[in-house]
Amino acid sequence: FNQQLESSYAEEPNSVAVMLPTHQKVVRLAHRPTTDIDPSYHLPLTYESVPTFPDDDGKTPLVLLHRLYLSIDPAMRGWMSSARSYLPPVAINAVMRGATLSEVVAVRGASRLKVGDVVSEFAGEAGGWQEYVIVSARSVRKIETWSELVDNHQQTPRELPLTIHLSVLGTTGLTAYFGFIHVGCPRLPSETKRPEVVLVNAAAGAVGSIVCQIAKNVYGCKVIGVAGSDAKCRLLIDDLKCCDAVINYREMENEVERGAGTADPAELFALKSTEFQKRLRRVLKQIDAKGLDIVFDNVGGYQLNECLSRLNYFARVAICGAISGYNNDLTKQQTDNNVSPTGLYMKHGMAIISLRAKIQGFIVLDYIKEWSNAKKELARWVLEGKIRYQKEDIRDGLENAPSALVDLFHGNNNGKLIVKVGEQQVKRKEIVSRL
Ligand SMILES: NC(=O)c1ccc[n+]([C@@H]2O[C@H](COP(=O)([O-])OP(=O)(O)OC[C@H]3O[C@@H](n4cnc5c(N)ncnc54)[C@H](OP(=O)(O)O)[C@@H]3O)[C@@H](O)[C@H]2O)c1
Repeated sequence: FNQQLESSYAEEPNSVAVMLPTHQKVVRLAHRPTTDIDPSYHLPLTYESVPTFPDDDGKTPLVLLHRLYLSIDPAMRGWMSSARSYLPPVAINAVMRGATLSEVVAVRGASRLKVGDVVSEFAGEAGGWQEYVIVSARSVRKIETWSELVDNHQQTPRELPLTIHLSVLGTTGLTAYFGFIHVGCPRLPSETKRPEVVLVNAAAGAVGSIVCQIAKNVYGCKVIGVAGSDAKCRLLIDDLKCCDAVINYREMENEVERGAGTADPAELFALKSTEFQKRLRRVLKQIDAKGLDIVFDNVGGYQLNECLSRLNYFARVAICGAISGYNNDLTKQQTDNNVSPTGLYMKHGMAIISLRAKIQGFIVLDYIKEWSNAKKELARWVLEGKIRYQKEDIRDGLENAPSALVDLFHGNNNGKLIVKVGEQQVKRKEIVSRL
């Protein structure tokens, strides 16, 4: 095995040999959560052997990958459960699934991949919470260089980190792109008499902040952002300048809880709904708008429902996620909030009929054939300053991935959450992203 490694390195003039450890960190799904994730119980860390190429006929080209970064996504909570979804559940004792960036540290057989190439993987056989993995060379994609993505990249020598391939140019940016453009169907002010009005919740998050910027800077919409802290609201208004008005829903929830005089969850939920409705009306007035043309919903629950009662004719509601319900116990008929356990329910559902509105869920994987073109457009928007690249929220070490995942459900992330699993060992100039 080491001979194979050495010969791989020898073929790479710009690469440096790396010593492989004998053992690696791996996180496996030990138990399925029914409510909140307990990191060490559901996703314990184990130490296992670093894999070696199998002693088979050698016909299938294989690569040994060293994990660099792991994307942390709310969807992982769903993959941990046994519920039917767009991907099969992660099996008990299987390596936890995830989207990743890895470097190739050894190649066996004929492959276009070389040692030092950086590859991305979305939730397939190579994507997972482990430091090293051997996979078929065909199952991973080499990340694009900036020259492959944008024509005039020479003019802008600013260097961007690899992690942009998990954020703006990864499934995060692609979710914002397809959800907003293909499902939200925005219209330019030139096609309508006024700018369209868009509401985005979890607006300061990874997907939400990109949606707000596309809505504001590409389509000239009026944008309302809903976020969970003053700092996040300031980011949207003052730094990214991608929202015309904001609602700090956590501050609102705390205020409701303090003044409620009840601890009953169903009553509190009703009070929060009513207060959210009031604030929604207030911000619509503030931006001189009657209602919403597009809702990009990441949250579900009362936020979605109250938005449904403030739609304009022919509004479009893109259901991207329902994070407020992901930790609810699905075995219960109703949650403590007295609504559907999934977090999706439609108290104001009749509005869909009378307003001829459209409500549609989507999964970013639906558009996989169009990812390549979309990445080029996203890259161009970054280049043109229409999407501002923000440093991701990067945590160190695979052992911190389970607690990082929990943080998403408390809003304890600042933008795209990523875990740095390992340091790039084989550095070649052409794999560094340049803008
Ligand atoms: N359909 C698809 O293909 C697809 C693909 C990717 C992601 N998604 C969905 O997109 C949404 C955003 O994902 P992301 O990766 O960009 O994560 P993110 O927004 O960066 O992080 C999640 C955010 O959700 C908010 N949140 C957490 N619990 C909440 C609650 N109970 N009520 C309201 N807000 C809550 C928090 O922001 P605050 O501090 O503002 O509360 C938190 O920071 C998720 O629902 C995810 O499942 C869908």
